Amino acid sequence: MRTIKRAVISTAFLALMAGLPGAALAADPAAIDWSKIRTKTVTLFYPGQSTYQWLRSRDHKRAYKKVLKGDSCVSCHEEEEADMGNLIVAGKRLEPAPIPGKNGSIELAVQAAHDDDYLYWRFRWKSNMDREGRMHDYMMFDGKTWTFYGSHRAKDAVREGRQPPLYEDRLAIMVDDGSVPLFAQQGCWLSCHDSMRDMPNAPAAAAVKGHAYLGKTLNKKDIRKFLPSSRTDGNAGWDTVKMPGEIAKIKAAGGFLDLMQWRVHRSNPVGMADDGYVLQYRLFDAGKKMFSWNVDKKTMTPKYMFDPAKVGFKALREGDIGDAGKPMAVIRGINAVAYDPDAGWKEGDILPGRLLSTRTEGSAGDNDWAKGVWKDGAYTLVFRRKLDTGHPEDDKVLKVGGVYTVGFAVHDDNVTTRFHHVGFPLSLGIGVKADIQATTLK
Ligand code: HEC
Repeated sequence: MRTIKRAVISTAFLALMAGLPGAALAADPAAIDWSKIRTKTVTLFYPGQSTYQWLRSRDHKRAYKKVLKGDSCVSCHEEEEADMGNLIVAGKRLEPAPIPGKNGSIELAVQAAHDDDYLYWRFRWKSNMDREGRMHDYMMFDGKTWTFYGSHRAKDAVREGRQPPLYEDRLAIMVDDGSVPLFAQQGCWLSCHDSMRDMPNAPAAAAVKGHAYLGKTLNKKDIRKFLPSSRTDGNAGWDTVKMPGEIAKIKAAGGFLDLMQWRVHRSNPVGMADDGYVLQYRLFDAGKKMFSWNVDKKTMTPKYMFDPAKVGFKALREGDIGDAGKPMAVIRGINAVAYDPDAGWKEGDILPGRLLSTRTEGSAGDNDWAKGVWKDGAYTLVFRRKLDTGHPEDDKVLKVGGVYTVGFAVHDDNVTTRFHHVGFPLSLGIGVKADIQATTLK
């Protein structure tokens, strides 16, 4: 069964790459007439360090008691998104290290449709950059060794102009079916905490590595998204993780958030989005996802290079940044060959530090059709997801007629962590009335 599914994906993908006519998948999201489907415009704003703990502190003036009680963000902040984003992005509140020129908000145009098997999304938004954010974790040859090259905009080396801004753009979707307490009211902010990367009071790597569960079992060295329900203390401390047995019980009862990320470098070149979930940490679904490292960390050399027979070169050069005509990702079985140390490397040669593959496995490969295009400063992304992926252990099962809560985020213009734009939670109805109603396809 698994082998068959894989073969279908890669055949369809190859056909897409080759531009063959009649290469449509069984349910072809690209064939949907989106002009007939209503658009909901959602304002995403720059949140800075507005964490779960800040929202519940006295600094969130006149509001913290209501937030503790479970009031919704929009009960006070309806239509304030753009103003809040402008205030925070400029460093006037909750942002100790503003990025010059960054926009405070993004208008995300959202459309949704469904049939008996799939939910289809279409998203459009303007990017703040004059090129696509499709490079990520690159390595450059300096004449002797390979070192990481380029990074995200919050990094000192990029702020100071020593390295170029090179980091993938992303669109993330969180989904809940009512199982996560307060998600319908407070959305993504439940998953965002002091102690996370780029947030106040982040613990040192040694402290996380020394933690009996996060370090010793999960092998982590920093804190990422988690839900308050996974912690034993009321203020959701990073280190008070419940016992694995209790976490397993919450997960089995559906008390996690489904989190899908469409990534311009690490998933779009293979026509997919990743599939993860948030509970005690931000984790990937079981199985094998579409990206991995292309760096042998022991020798610090790439594992694969571009196949010159397929693409005409073995490596990129600095002048290729932003060249829409060149592939920026190495994909196993499509355009990659094993790295040859004797291939005559020149100073300034660049290779991706990530390796893509169309051969996903299990739940991690559920989002097998996601295609985004950047044109004239704006992205258009079409994304399909099975209503029932068959993996209820780490995905939300959506039903026709059901109403769910969704939250969106966009990482735009070479940023990571908190430097994104997020929206307040919205309801999604599969064929029924809600903030976003997925139109039933006939
Ligand atoms: C009871 C009303 C109320 C609720 C509920 C509420 N807020 Fe606020 N929030 C406020 C007020 C009032 C301020 C301005 C405080 C000030 O002037 O210092 C504020 C400030 C903020 C700010 C700082 C930016 C600014 O404009 O000052 C952020 C970010 C924020 N709130 C996010 C949220 C989020 C996210 C939620 C939901 C989890 C939420 N708020 C729920 C009333 C509320």
